[in-house]
Amino acid sequence: MAQGPYSDKVMDHFMHPRNMGEIEDASGVGEVGNPACGDVMRLYLKIEDGKIVDAKFKTFGCGAAIASSSMTTELIKGKSIDEALKLSNEAVSEALGGLPPAKQHCSVLAEDALRAALEDYKKKQGTA
Ligand code: FES
Repeated sequence: MAQGPYSDKVMDHFMHPRNMGEIEDASGVGEVGNPACGDVMRLYLKIEDGKIVDAKFKTFGCGAAIASSSMTTELIKGKSIDEALKLSNEAVSEALGGLPPAKQHCSVLAEDALRAALEDYKKKQGTA
């Protein structure tokens, strides 16, 4: 039963975020902030043999940003770097059953954090 502007999935991932926390020996870390709302998202990736084997996040932000982070970690686990690079904020929003228009930017934050983390990984590998 969806109440208010959020889908059940958004509420579920907001109330029970998956993969919240940090990875100490992360292969790549991406942090992005949205200056308009002040929300900040940090995404940690563990990459082995070109595959994302673990992902965790810390998000200081709104419910939609937390739900988007949570869904993003779920979607990218087990994916190759190239596959993960194709993940768009629309796909994250879709997997969450949609976000209200005013909250689309929260899923953009997740996409940007993912790209930043993959960039960081490539830099550490010396392939950026
Ligand atoms: Fe800014 Fe959601 S209101 S990320």
